[in-house]
Amino acid sequence: MSLLERVAALEAEVKQATAKTAEEVERFRVAMLGRNGAVTELFDAFKQVSADEKRALGQRLNQLKQAAQERLDELKAGSTTIGPTSSTTLDLSAPSATEATGSHHPISIVRQRIVDIFGHIGYTVSQGPEVEDDHHNFGALNFPPDHPARDMQDTFFVEGDDLALRTHTSSVQVRVMENSSPPIRTISPGRVYRNEAISARAHCMFHQVEGLYVDKGVSFADLKGTLDHFTKSLFGPDVSIRMRPSYFPFTEPSAEVDMSCTICNGSGCNICKQSGWVEIMGCGMVDPTVLTNCGIDPEVYSGFAFGMGVERIAQLIYRVPDLRMYWENDVRFLDQFTAATFRH
Ligand code: DAH
Repeated sequence: MSLLERVAALEAEVKQATAKTAEEVERFRVAMLGRNGAVTELFDAFKQVSADEKRALGQRLNQLKQAAQERLDELKAGSTTIGPTSSTTLDLSAPSATEATGSHHPISIVRQRIVDIFGHIGYTVSQGPEVEDDHHNFGALNFPPDHPARDMQDTFFVEGDDLALRTHTSSVQVRVMENSSPPIRTISPGRVYRNEAISARAHCMFHQVEGLYVDKGVSFADLKGTLDHFTKSLFGPDVSIRMRPSYFPFTEPSAEVDMSCTICNGSGCNICKQSGWVEIMGCGMVDPTVLTNCGIDPEVYSGFAFGMGVERIAQLIYRVPDLRMYWENDVRFLDQFTAATFRH
């Protein structure tokens, strides 16, 4: 190809050149006018030709260079220099812009796990109202009329009515027994309220899970076996439980359930106050008076009941140091919890 032919070919190329990005513009500049660009090379070759040829070629070359420069300016003006260039869109190492996703509240996660464990051994879930009457919250459960739990110190009463915010989910066992007949196997998760000063260790609202099993021949051994199964399912096969005699108006006998401390494995730490045991719930055999109050014949049926605080259980799993953190809705706190905590 003669130099003149090359000039013609490059003129056509310059005319047709396009560029969408600043990068492509730069590529055009380098290809044409760069140190080793096609136009620059032609100028180098021009030096070698005869004086005659120079006259004809010189003018064309200058025109070509000018056309290339003008095209470059046009492309620059039209190209988009804002936004990602092709190399950044393909940067596979760049952190992805993930959407922030929500997560379950730790109390919901633990409550759901408790429901699942009892669901596997045949327990249904039952619910009752949070605004409750005296009969279901206290009377039917054998609380004497002058019991201190009825006092203004502990209970939020609803003004002008015989109603209060329920102080425990034991009220639901009354409703279940009144409305169904044995065999009854049910748990009742829900919110409860007490007139407490809010601190790191107490709140005026918290969550409980109540359990109730009523049938012919239900024994204290059944209760202990069920709770042993529950704690091992939730905390792992190595934990053990023990029962201490206690008192509740609605159970006889009554017991407090301790679990071997999962933090020090029983050797003694701050959480278990050096005892190796942590209290996790109350329980007992349903008092025959309560069965009678709810229309179930205690001569035919017996039952057990238990009640646990969800925040307390969650505290042992997640080691949350202050109860108030659960309800402050700080996403830095809430983001940390996942159901994957449970491997058992
Ligand atoms: N209702 C009790 C409380 O709020 C917990 C409880 C203890 C429930 C013993 C029970 C039980 O069913 O048998 O502290």
